[in-house]
Amino acid sequence: MKMPQSHHKSHHKLYRLAEIYDIAFDFKDFASECEFMMSVYENIIGRKPESWLEMAAGPARHTLEMARLGLQATALDLSPEMVEYGRSLAHSAGVKFEYMCGDMAEFILKQPVELAGLLLDSASYLLENETVYRHLNCAADALVKNGVYILEMAHPADHLTGRKSTRTDWESARDGKKVRMIWGDESDKLDVISQTTETSVHMIVTENGQSTEIVDTCPQRFFTCTEFRALVDASGRFEIVAQYGAMDRQIDLRHKKAWRMISVLKKR
Ligand SMILES: C[S@@+](CC[C@H](N)C(=O)[O-])C[C@H]1O[C@@H](n2cnc3c(N)ncnc32)[C@H](O)[C@@H]1O
Repeated sequence: MKMPQSHHKSHHKLYRLAEIYDIAFDFKDFASECEFMMSVYENIIGRKPESWLEMAAGPARHTLEMARLGLQATALDLSPEMVEYGRSLAHSAGVKFEYMCGDMAEFILKQPVELAGLLLDSASYLLENETVYRHLNCAADALVKNGVYILEMAHPADHLTGRKSTRTDWESARDGKKVRMIWGDESDKLDVISQTTETSVHMIVTENGQSTEIVDTCPQRFFTCTEFRALVDASGRFEIVAQYGAMDRQIDLRHKKAWRMISVLKKR
């Protein structure tokens, strides 16, 4: 089968190593991020959501949490290894959710959901405007009317001012495996026309005293705030009802603690 083109463009060497990726991102507080997304939904709709879809879900830790909270949950990712790994996490936790393998710009969900998410800047793999529109169409089709879609993207200041608000070199360990991750490098090339950076990722995995280094480079796009708002408007499928600078409803995009661009979209 011919893989969708976007598969070749994401960091697929990295995403094949699902367990290593999961160890590296162990520091994230998935429960509080889910609590934030639930509270955003409740604030808009007036009750808790009953169903959830996570696109570009990776190990699907948010989906695991949503399923634990009792939501009918579905995850989607392009990497078969991530899908298999996420399913095994769910199995070990005794939690049920559906995990589909597919492209976030080209999928159909059987049953529309009330709340959806695209987290940890996975939108940066939607390189062309055309792909963004296809993705927004798929996401809208996957939601019920008035369904809520939350995207966590890089804060524009990261790219426009050169400030670094994310941890780009860190270590994490689990089950005798140590992972050092270096995300991006000053020498990574930014194409100012396409707003994409050839982003290099170095992973050094140490196990039983032996170290292996994996290097993966691929383009990632950044979005300015006005540009993203224009793309959403032009899609005709959603309206932006809120934007935050962190997974905290008290922090707006201009707040001194703002470090992400979180957009809350409501299906028209
Ligand atoms: C940065 S990880 C995010 C994982 C997860 N959302 C999290 O918060 O940990 C990006 C994920 O996007 C997936 N991905 C990249 N391009 C994709 C596409 N076009 N469709 C679906 N998944 C994609 C990768 O396989 C990877 O698992």
